Amino acid sequence: MLGMMGCGKSYVSEVLAQKYGLDHYEMDAMIEAEQGMSISDIFEKHGEAYFRSLETTLLMDLLKNKGACVISSGGGVVEKAENMEAILDMAVSVWLKTDVPVLLERVRGGEERPMLLQGNDPAEELERLLNAREGLYSKADIHIENNGDGSVEELADQIIEEVIMAQETKKPKIVHVNLGERSYDIVIGSGLLSSVQDYLPFDIKGKKLFIITDENVQGCGYPEQIHKAFQNNGARWSDIKVMPAGEATKSYDRLIEALDWMLGNDLNRDSIVVAVGGGVIGDLGGLAASLAMRGVPYVQVPTSLLAQVDSSVGGKTAIDTPYGKNLVGTFYQPVSVIIDTDTLKTLPEREIYAGYGEVVKYGFIGDKKFFEWLEDGNGKKVLSQEPEATARAIEVCCTNKAQIVEADEHEKGQRALLNFGHTFAHAFETLAGYDGKLLHGEAVAIGLVLAFDLSVRMRLCPVEDYERVVAHFRDVGLPVNIHDIDAQVADAIISNKQALRDVMFRDKKVKDGKMVFVLANSIGDSLVHKDVPDELVNEVLEDFLNWGR
Ligand SMILES: NC(=O)c1ccc[n+]([C@@H]2O[C@H](COP(=O)([O-])OP(=O)(O)OC[C@H]3O[C@@H](n4cnc5c(N)ncnc54)[C@H](O)[C@@H]3O)[C@@H](O)[C@H]2O)c1
Repeated sequence: MLGMMGCGKSYVSEVLAQKYGLDHYEMDAMIEAEQGMSISDIFEKHGEAYFRSLETTLLMDLLKNKGACVISSGGGVVEKAENMEAILDMAVSVWLKTDVPVLLERVRGGEERPMLLQGNDPAEELERLLNAREGLYSKADIHIENNGDGSVEELADQIIEEVIMAQETKKPKIVHVNLGERSYDIVIGSGLLSSVQDYLPFDIKGKKLFIITDENVQGCGYPEQIHKAFQNNGARWSDIKVMPAGEATKSYDRLIEALDWMLGNDLNRDSIVVAVGGGVIGDLGGLAASLAMRGVPYVQVPTSLLAQVDSSVGGKTAIDTPYGKNLVGTFYQPVSVIIDTDTLKTLPEREIYAGYGEVVKYGFIGDKKFFEWLEDGNGKKVLSQEPEATARAIEVCCTNKAQIVEADEHEKGQRALLNFGHTFAHAFETLAGYDGKLLHGEAVAIGLVLAFDLSVRMRLCPVEDYERVVAHFRDVGLPVNIHDIDAQVADAIISNKQALRDVMFRDKKVKDGKMVFVLANSIGDSLVHKDVPDELVNEVLEDFLNWGR
């Protein structure tokens, strides 16, 4: 229970606990009892910092060790980031919202309220504290008005109802990938990293865990969180290998480095490789896991939007070569995919946009309703990381991908649909040189537009659908033409037309000398076309390269 002094936390918590047969812990009272003095005296004698450290220790103990209970916290508990993180992670939080005049009425005679004593005018002081904390309280899962309008019993019932609903939405969602003995679960939720071991299909006790990541993701602390969780839960050994960030890491050299690290640390068939990062780390880690000892189990913990909606699912692993992208790789399924949506909070905005290219792709391939949902304002919500829309989009994409992979694990047919837009995209990326100037998802976005353009020229798709795609991309801010990408990359592509075509022909999507393209009959209805005339591909490229000239 969170909220300002005087919001009624203690009383409401007490009634709530009694009504539902739960234990109730009133933190300030517990600290006073333990220290043998009032909170005001603790402040006066030892200072606020001392009180805050007692508060954190007590909070962690209650959250970790007390099971289902009601905790009534002190009003300032939210001010420490580590407290707030733990509360959001381990509890269902309720903010009791009360207006300042009501608060003032309730805290009259507040000589026992040390935070009030710091200001001259209690009303001003309450206003100041509320302004400072409002943003933090508002992170709570549930917001309940408590201005004394109804009975406390009614309030308790309302809280319980909303807690049950919040628990449901906090529960991780599971998407199952059904591939016989290679089946696995994709777990999607928030706050999963510190208990990753709970979502694995086996016990990690006595096992060696090889965590592979990149420097950016390492900097965010996610691999360390997982490493600690492994160590606290009986792993025999675990360590983190940090690779440079970026597409260039999908290389022969880095593959050898990863394998040497694993073998040099006595990896055995019982060991587990855990790839924590974006698609680059997932693809490289998965390939290394598939090759070491002819294959050890690996877990995907994707941290970029692109990896969460696409690359972590389905078991394609690869590195790039000077001849093209993903040309050396394996089909090798993970044993588990654990998607902690909280990790997206640190993902740079440009990467979120790049990931959106793969999100919207699922709408085009076979889920028109999903595209309409994105068009209907939800795409923008995903891009601004609104948690519910983001979690929903990830779940829909994973469900779509799981179905396609189940039907065609080794890309003999329908799985190729996932390459919608990718023949163009891979060629642009190869010419751009994998140095971060053109992100995979950005290339995919343009590739999707060109695939619709080609579909119209093939007289498969109505021009209105092409226009609708372009309109949506423009609406959300995705690139649609050559001028929307880095100028240097654009120049490299424009001045190397022949190389662009060569790379497209060398792409895996060439069969019997003919270009194989994924095209669309309409939005949500895609097909693999095995006989696309060169002239039309040339027309699309020419118009794209000469756009606006
Ligand atoms: N295997 C497949 O089925 C498949 C499917 C689609 C794409 N891919 C591959 O995926 C790759 C692209 O993946 P990507 O876009 O994730 O690239 P990436 O792995 O390079 O990640 C993008 C950037 O975001 C950083 N990052 C990742 N998570 C972060 C976080 N939570 N906070 C802060 N920074 C974070 C990374 O360090 C990197 O700089 C390409 O190589 C592509 O070929 C593979």
